[in-house]
Amino acid sequence: MPTLFRKSKEIRNYVRLQKCENGRSIGLVPTMGYLHDGHRELIRQSKIQNDLTIVSIYVNPLQFGKDEDFGRYPRDLERDILVCEEEGVDAVFAPSDEEMYPESPVVNIHMEGLSDILEGKFRPGHFNGVCVVVLKLLNIVQPDRAYFGEKDYQQLKVVQRLVKDLSLPVEIVPVRTVRDTDGLAFSSRNTYLSPEERESALSLYKSFLLAEKFIKSGNTQADLIKEVIRDFILRHPHVRKIDYVEITDEDLRPVQEVREGDRILLAVWVGNTRLIDNWRIGNANL
Ligand code: PAF
Repeated sequence: MPTLFRKSKEIRNYVRLQKCENGRSIGLVPTMGYLHDGHRELIRQSKIQNDLTIVSIYVNPLQFGKDEDFGRYPRDLERDILVCEEEGVDAVFAPSDEEMYPESPVVNIHMEGLSDILEGKFRPGHFNGVCVVVLKLLNIVQPDRAYFGEKDYQQLKVVQRLVKDLSLPVEIVPVRTVRDTDGLAFSSRNTYLSPEERESALSLYKSFLLAEKFIKSGNTQADLIKEVIRDFILRHPHVRKIDYVEITDEDLRPVQEVREGDRILLAVWVGNTRLIDNWRIGNANL
């Protein structure tokens, strides 16, 4: 059973002891809980690379907009602890809101060029919330490495830049997106989908495969590819709207002509659920 810590002071003391007295390396997997196979992959990577693995579980209010799903975001700490036990996690840090934000933070973190594009454009303030909580978690736990999924590709890029610009003494390790057998990327928000909506949600993954085929047959114009993806997704019955379909290089700069290694990024509403996914071009052997 992983040791459960609720207080920052306690987890910090635990880490200090493990690092200084026992010389152990620490991997942190920051999560908002409701753990799924994507999180299991993050944990597995951490266990390969570190002596001890800590999972943080905290639904961070600061990264949700006022009309977003903070209230209904799935939470089940008991179940999460069981998942952590199955995966051999050493400690879980699950702070309360009072512990994380005894006062509303007045510090804002804005990332020039990164905070306001893609997700940031549709979720103003989201990356401020992500940066503040990630910075706090890194400061509290002080891990050697922290693990972030490529499923939230822009978040990964933002966190990498945060660490670089502020010289934080931690290595950010990107971990591949894990997909269900039907191709849907694992996400805690998938629990919102009805079976029919889930069928329509598969259009995201299928659109990536379609785009790959289209590119392989010689069409490399980003605008055209985006159009093909949009048309395909919008044909699915429960798709309500598309927030964006973009194609960028690996650093999220828009491209005109696509090349291997570029990313397709999209955000789509299926019923009342907003899903994001992304794809590295050249990933499929079609
Ligand atoms: O990806 C997530 O689950 C969250 O954005 C994170 C990184 C745990 C910060 O709250």
